[in-house]
Amino acid sequence: MIVVTGASGHLGRLVVEELTKRVPAAQVVAAARTPQKAADLGVEVREADYDRPETIEAAVRRAARVLLISGVEPQRARQHTAVVDAAKRAGAVLVYTSAPKADTTEAALAADHRATEEYIKASGVTYTILRNNWYNEVYDPAIAAAPQLGAVYGASGDGRVASASRADYAAAAAAVLTGEGHDGQVYELAGDTAWSRADLAAEISKVTGKEVVYRDLPKDEYAGVLAGTGVPAPFAEILADVDVNVSRDWLADTPGTLRELIGRPTRTIGDHVRSLLA
Ligand SMILES: NC(=O)c1ccc[n+]([C@@H]2O[C@H](COP(=O)([O-])OP(=O)(O)OC[C@H]3O[C@@H](n4cnc5c(N)ncnc54)[C@H](OP(=O)(O)O)[C@@H]3O)[C@@H](O)[C@H]2O)c1
Repeated sequence: MIVVTGASGHLGRLVVEELTKRVPAAQVVAAARTPQKAADLGVEVREADYDRPETIEAAVRRAARVLLISGVEPQRARQHTAVVDAAKRAGAVLVYTSAPKADTTEAALAADHRATEEYIKASGVTYTILRNNWYNEVYDPAIAAAPQLGAVYGASGDGRVASASRADYAAAAAAVLTGEGHDGQVYELAGDTAWSRADLAAEISKVTGKEVVYRDLPKDEYAGVLAGTGVPAPFAEILADVDVNVSRDWLADTPGTLRELIGRPTRTIGDHVRSLLA
């Protein structure tokens, strides 16, 4: 039995779909805080709220492998411990979606991932860590707004991002959850190519025929731009901090491991822009 937490989210849904291509649906469990959101996935659905450990305990019953999809709330590092503990007690292998270079980066966003990785390693559970680089989809609001604004905004300078599609990361998670030889591995998963915001602006110009440039802003100004588009101020600060770390090439490495796991090239940001705007 393979249990996927966060199965109602964008990534979780894709992982469940990928798993059911590889193993019988009866071997897959979608564990979700909001079970009705996962009811259409065609697999057994179990309630699993990271804030209610008793639900996690029940959700991972008879699991051989558990995918812990990282949460989104400020207390997620604490929330994750409930899943790690439950997987350990169930005797399951735990697979965790982490962040690039979680053990060394100074990016504030990665602190929860570093804490979770440390907890996993100290727990004694058998684990695989998937350090997912950014999703192409993260940039959808900026891509959608760019033709009208004539600009893409950021604070990442010439720094590059080796993004891939959510579907690529989902396929990799499914490959690990159904494969062998991944115990104890920490995989840095990234797209095949890294691009700068100027490259992104150029792609948008190419696809739309409109002039779109990259406007590099100081960190605080960029946080203000994000807050102005409705991003809650504390999260806007964290995203601006991500960009500062991108300027130092935090997300630029292209180790090729994602491509190897999924057996195909990753989806480029250019293809993604075309699918959104063409
Ligand atoms: N690499 C990247 O570029 C990137 C970008 C964004 C996020 N992430 C991380 O990757 C994760 C998956 O991405 P995504 O696109 O699938 O995010 P998403 O669509 O926002 O899904 C988040 C999932 O987490 C679940 N969740 C939140 N709080 C929970 C709780 N207390 N108990 C149980 N489940 C809870 C949500 O459940 P509900 O449906 O009940 O809300 C949802 O299923 C995110 O949660 C985040 O940690 C990575």
